[in-house]
Amino acid sequence: MHIVSLALGGCLKGEPVRYGITEDTGGHITYILGEMEALARRGDVEMAEVITRRFDDPRLGAIHAEAEEWLGPKLVIRRIDSGNRRYLAKEALSADRAAFTEALIAELGQRERLPDLIHAHFADAADVARKVEDALGIPFIYTAHSLGMDKRMAMPAPSAALEGRIAEENRAIAGARAIIGSSRDECERQLAAYPSARIGKIHRLIPGIDRSAAGGEISSAIELVSPFLREPMKPVVLAIARPVHKKNLVRLVEAFGKSPTLREQCNLVVLAGLRDDLQSGEAEQQDVLRGLVDAIDRHDLYGKVAYPKSHTRQQVKELYTLAARTRGVFVNPALTEPYGLTLVEAAAHGVPVVATKIGGPQDIVGELEHGLLVDPGSESEIAEAIERLVTDRRLWETCSHNGQANSREVNWDAYAGGFMAIARQVTAPATALRPRPAHLLVSDLDNTLTGCDRGALRIGQFFQRQAQFGFVIATGRSIVEARRLVRDWKLPDPRAWITSVGTEIYVERGGDLVLDTDYADGIGYEWHPTAIDDALDDLPDLIPQASYEQRPFKRSYFANSPGMAAQVEDRLRSHGIPARVVFSHDRLLDVLPPMAGKAAAMGHVARMFDVPVEQVFAAGDSGNDEDMLTACQNAIMVGNHAAEIAALARRPNVYLARRSHAAGTLEGILAQHRAQRLRERRDTRISA
Ligand code: GLC
Ligand code: MG
Repeated sequence: MHIVSLALGGCLKGEPVRYGITEDTGGHITYILGEMEALARRGDVEMAEVITRRFDDPRLGAIHAEAEEWLGPKLVIRRIDSGNRRYLAKEALSADRAAFTEALIAELGQRERLPDLIHAHFADAADVARKVEDALGIPFIYTAHSLGMDKRMAMPAPSAALEGRIAEENRAIAGARAIIGSSRDECERQLAAYPSARIGKIHRLIPGIDRSAAGGEISSAIELVSPFLREPMKPVVLAIARPVHKKNLVRLVEAFGKSPTLREQCNLVVLAGLRDDLQSGEAEQQDVLRGLVDAIDRHDLYGKVAYPKSHTRQQVKELYTLAARTRGVFVNPALTEPYGLTLVEAAAHGVPVVATKIGGPQDIVGELEHGLLVDPGSESEIAEAIERLVTDRRLWETCSHNGQANSREVNWDAYAGGFMAIARQVTAPATALRPRPAHLLVSDLDNTLTGCDRGALRIGQFFQRQAQFGFVIATGRSIVEARRLVRDWKLPDPRAWITSVGTEIYVERGGDLVLDTDYADGIGYEWHPTAIDDALDDLPDLIPQASYEQRPFKRSYFANSPGMAAQVEDRLRSHGIPARVVFSHDRLLDVLPPMAGKAAAMGHVARMFDVPVEQVFAAGDSGNDEDMLTACQNAIMVGNHAAEIAALARRPNVYLARRSHAAGTLEGILAQHRAQRLRERRDTRISA
């Protein structure tokens, strides 16, 4: 496959990149280089081509005037001449767009072979890609990197520019074959809020990080900060962000300045882009830099705060190492952060983090478990979280260890694998209508199908050979997360998706994955989520799960003491609130509408495919599978099941597999299928 990554803004070139040299030279360049290098390493990619604007501005680098920059035998940056050779920042860039598009279409049009797919970065590139598709038929995928919709809520008054941006993003979402987001927040809340968004096109793909030279050297970092710091080996509180207001760097300096503990025990290092002097760059940058210097001055932080003018990629890596070595903390205090790549970099270096709870960091920190989330509007919360990490040795150790261990999966090769799966899906010709299945396997996902690559592969082969078996997922996860796992574990494409603990069902209709509204209407009766929240509010050991785990028909909590499920049931009953309480893995507690759950959803899907109940098989491993394994005549419990459902093994309808994970599920299907055929044969003999 020949893949193009298209981005219009910033100084896009091969490393070393001078990040922050212009306002638009930011994280998307790391993303594009990481993405395209990994794609170029793959055997199934013939060419990875980055396309951007050509401009002639020696101060920003002579390379930007070059038509081509080869970074490897299959990796090239190609620069298109729009006729205007000046470097253009955001506003001016849109005026140049029509000319750029025309030049790009002309350039592609004269090639012998067209690229197969364009990956458009930001909505302006998506607009270009849409026109390229109209002219030449090349489909495109869109990655937003940051979305305007969220900013609207933070704005005091409506702004025409922002409305224009949101409309453009909405067109990008409408036109793209697939939209790739990094975090759950971005995929499930931010993107989903756009009118043109369709859930089946949204894919979560976690970007990689640069791991080279993690650990080791610190000399060039010391060289960078020592002119500022009296004692450079004190714990480093590190922040890295472009100098724009939403990154909230001035508040971090305030928080640091007002905390006696931090002033005494730590150093603060702020890398806020690159500058020639405090007057250089755009107005917002000057404003932020002035704010930083002013706060440092007001709190008399001389000798304790470093804010270097420039830095190299190497120095950034070494600063993470220095922060780890001095038992420091990485802080991202942004007012809103779409993803937060630096938090993953910090994790890889073993640096615990304090991060904004608005946006992507919520799920990065949730998954990597390497730090604390704070309200970016609260100086005291920011300061207290940093204080806790630098003073509590055990907490620091745990976070440092978790970050290193849990971030190992996050790499660009994994990203490229996922990207190619999506690319194949969007470039494949439409598949023929699948025949109605004779049997259904309704299977839980986590630990029932996931956990072992070989088993997952074998169950995939089973479904490929046994076309009469329809495959249905039934999971506690959201639809976006369920699809990510099915993709990453290379499981077969399900006929239907039962998600969020049997409160949502998604099916394909006219090539589009859509919510089954009949089911939603059926379970929505007698559902009072706010009354539930109020009734359970003061139970001390019941902590709500992250905001994106709260779904239209599902309230989810962590239960931190045993017997919690019974307490919650009592509490709801005494308030006269009808609801089901589901307890899984000793700790996860869901409250659902009385009529919902995996069993109810399984029944609904079986009726939809017109498959009789005795032809339905169900597999699971934990508490939220209990109703389904009880109701199903051909139930399978995998060997690695959770203790809370162990008693189900005594039921005659349940087969307890010797094997674990997908291999256990497959063992169960074969055993239950055999038993069921024997029963059928016996029944026909009796009636004969
Ligand atoms: C999944 C969901 C979580 C739920 C759990 C148990 O992990 O993401 O919200 O509590 O399943 O049903
Ligand atoms: Mg499970």
